[in-house]
Amino acid sequence: MTDLVAIARSLFVSGKGLLAADESVHTATKRLASYGIDTSEEMRRQYRDLFLSMPHVEDYLSGVILFEETLKQKASDKKLFPNSLSARGIAPGIKVDGGTEPFPESSDEFITKGLLGLSDRLAVFKKQGAVFTKWRGVIKIEGDILPSSQAIHENMKRLANYAKEVQTAGMVPILEPEVLLQGNHSIIRAKAVLQETLGTLFSVLEEYSVDRAGVVLKTAMALTGSDSSKKDTPEEVAEATLEVLMETVPRQIAGIVFLSGGQDPDEATDNLAAITKRAKDVSAPWPLTFSYARALQKEALEVWKGKPENIEAARAVFLERLKKVSAAATL
Ligand code: 13P
Repeated sequence: MTDLVAIARSLFVSGKGLLAADESVHTATKRLASYGIDTSEEMRRQYRDLFLSMPHVEDYLSGVILFEETLKQKASDKKLFPNSLSARGIAPGIKVDGGTEPFPESSDEFITKGLLGLSDRLAVFKKQGAVFTKWRGVIKIEGDILPSSQAIHENMKRLANYAKEVQTAGMVPILEPEVLLQGNHSIIRAKAVLQETLGTLFSVLEEYSVDRAGVVLKTAMALTGSDSSKKDTPEEVAEATLEVLMETVPRQIAGIVFLSGGQDPDEATDNLAAITKRAKDVSAPWPLTFSYARALQKEALEVWKGKPENIEAARAVFLERLKKVSAAATL
């Protein structure tokens, strides 16, 4: 087994998953403001520390996706965050895309940037301790019109380019083609878009000769759009999601992690539990786990409010959610 494959597989330990703590400065500022917290570099350090320095977090997390600002900051044990995580057996990863820009060929769609200068940045991140990376593309559903196949194709091509560069640099790429939850679409439409997206991704990865055994897929679940009044049952979500994954995802990849995408924490937990069960029933060939940001952080942020006196209570809430999500990912 190559080092890359070993690192990729090490993210899939029964009962553990990933915390996505890779909000950009812009997103972190907006996220904290929505809980009434003013932001600054130090406040963002405290925000990361709330989660990453919680006692026993290593019992539930195999990896954490960081943002570059955090690589250079120190945890409360006085170690740099990547070193502090590694010392506790948690793999540090890094978001390497540069966010989205409008897609010139279809003005309502977005394409992810960040390939320019990527190999130089990867060399720096590797020195700073990152062992895996993440790149997110976004696929927006609007009725039967969007996404366009051009936007899907361009986003998947960039993901494949990214994956190739990351493997060459000796790190594991997490590929996140996020089919967005926002919209009024049915679960059937979400399923069709997920199918086209993942089908395109894996055929482009083959064209680019990316080593499939050394990649991790990060995907959305197939869900009815968040503007619709219809609520899916966890069993409906699990059935639709597994059907697409079984048809499109090669058995050789190291594993699949799910994003929460704006589902509330209970929904994201219950849907994951149903997916785990369904995956077993259909003998899915890859390990599955979580890589949540909002669904893991939301309740703790509501309690923390940026105040040192609330850290303990906020961590208790975070630990409780982490235990539930971890149980949902365990067969
Ligand atoms: P959410 O779980 O909030 O969707 O975030 C996951 C992520 O990594 C988004 O890029």
